[in-house]
Amino acid sequence: MTQTGVDHVPNPNTRPEAGGFDSADWWRQAVVYQIYPRSFHDADGDGLGDLRGVTEKADYLKDLGIDAVWLSPFYPSQLADGGYDVDDYRDVDPRLGSLDDFDAMVHALHGRRIKVVVDIVPNHSSNLHRWFREAVAAGPGSLERDRYIFRDGRGESGELPPSDWQSVFGGPAWTRVTEPDGAPGQWYMHIFASEQPDWNWDNPDVHQEFLDTIRFWADRGVDGFRIDVAHALAKDLGEELVDSHALPNEFEEFGTHPFWDRDEVHDIYAEWRRAFNEYDPPRTAVAEAWVHPDRLARYASPDGLGQAFSFDLLEVPFTAENFRRAITKNLDEARRSGASSTWVLSNHDVVRHPTRYGLDLDTLLERLEERPLTPSGGTDLSVAAKQWLLLGSPEDLLDRDRGLRRARAAELLVLALPGSAYIYQGSELGLYEVVEIDDDQRQDPSFFRNPGKDQGRDGCRVPLPWERTAQDFGFGGPAHLPQPEWFAGHAADAELSDPGSTLNMYRSALAARREMQAAEELEWGPLNGGDVVHIVRPDGWESITNFGSDPLELPEGGVVVVSSQPLQSSLLPPETTVWLRHRTGGR
Ligand code: GLC
Repeated sequence: MTQTGVDHVPNPNTRPEAGGFDSADWWRQAVVYQIYPRSFHDADGDGLGDLRGVTEKADYLKDLGIDAVWLSPFYPSQLADGGYDVDDYRDVDPRLGSLDDFDAMVHALHGRRIKVVVDIVPNHSSNLHRWFREAVAAGPGSLERDRYIFRDGRGESGELPPSDWQSVFGGPAWTRVTEPDGAPGQWYMHIFASEQPDWNWDNPDVHQEFLDTIRFWADRGVDGFRIDVAHALAKDLGEELVDSHALPNEFEEFGTHPFWDRDEVHDIYAEWRRAFNEYDPPRTAVAEAWVHPDRLARYASPDGLGQAFSFDLLEVPFTAENFRRAITKNLDEARRSGASSTWVLSNHDVVRHPTRYGLDLDTLLERLEERPLTPSGGTDLSVAAKQWLLLGSPEDLLDRDRGLRRARAAELLVLALPGSAYIYQGSELGLYEVVEIDDDQRQDPSFFRNPGKDQGRDGCRVPLPWERTAQDFGFGGPAHLPQPEWFAGHAADAELSDPGSTLNMYRSALAARREMQAAEELEWGPLNGGDVVHIVRPDGWESITNFGSDPLELPEGGVVVVSSQPLQSSLLPPETTVWLRHRTGGR
């Protein structure tokens, strides 16, 4: 049997018409690679990744075999929240480049048949946005203030916040401003950091600002948009603010929370959809919406954003049952909404999955005071992993080899599924969460606003290692978060020359995926059940994952296309996925 490679020479141009680069449906089965720009590649050497850095790596992305990139924000920003605090929605942060650099990047990516998705952050701007500065300067009751959410404080002289709401990052969700006359003044609301004032979506200027922004980027050739905290925009705060509308999301009474997941939010997306559809092909969008599963379909509907992230696989531990349940649920949801399903194992907000999967969960849960739960009542691995960071990342609870083995098996399974797969930068290198960051090197507001309660998200945002022996591992400038020694073994050049590397597994899998027929459905194979997830695609391709601890006898007659671990015989090792194709069947 083969090692972790393909047994055929794939032709990158044989993508089936439906779903290919030139089709309006390109997004339905796309593999989308998330770039966190300031940590991807630094072309100008200032220590922050930039857009020219992306352009320089366009061939790497093409050779990886992805269909699209999604860029996290690259707009002018003081980086109070990694760029999710936007000063100007229609420009590029000068440290990351210029609009010309953006155009050159789009040209380079499109020339390699890679689509471009950008992040839109519509719940809040930054406090340096021109309109927020104008709002503070204009004073209470002004038209300028109405674009944001200002309220008088409580207490004799307004010295208490208008309500007891806490921000997602910790601390009050209200910050007081100083009025133009120098007196302590009104308070503004911010679900996230105080540098991120929430927009008032009842104000028509705000609607126009975002329509203009969407058209601005669509006119520049952007193919799609990722919508940040899509479930928070519409708010009904009432005249009297009610205390203790606590975060996080409350699921009991759908649509009644003052700001999470209100029905009116879909009016905004219907408006955007009309703008997306002005283009040929229509621009696409994907919602980041942390809502009850029953509520997700509306965000993904074709009258709305068209697709929504499913975050199940960020949360669940590595078991066959968990994956089966998530697959069934996501395919059902996609059927209901008319979108395609989405698969996400990592992003810039969570502990990287090779680390999550390497944790000794039973012992970790024993050490935690409270068991973190998912909405369905299972263990939330993502929260557990954050707790592990808080405990000081005890190495005795982490088995790195096991974590990477499982991560590879999970990714290969996900890439065999119908729908689109989102891959976070560095996953293809098998990067673990970086835990070697001193407190004084941290950047994430969730760390600073939650002392002792949150280690923050910096560990998955460390600049990528490109070259094993180069300064800063070839990042291009002094890395703005410390790169650990072990990055050497994960550098792209080192992995490229190792046939068994994670990078080569991804490249083989993505090349093979181009040979698959586009499909939105699957069947469970005969081995499915217990510790085994066995899927059969309509074209006859099969993916078998052995979640158990004993080797599994593979069915006869299949040709191994790619596997997440080397196969020595006809046995599938524990915690391994294999793709099989039949000599006569299928295509
Ligand atoms: C989203 C982003 C996250 C950011 C937050 C506020 O959840 O993914 O990185 O901090 O929104 O914009």
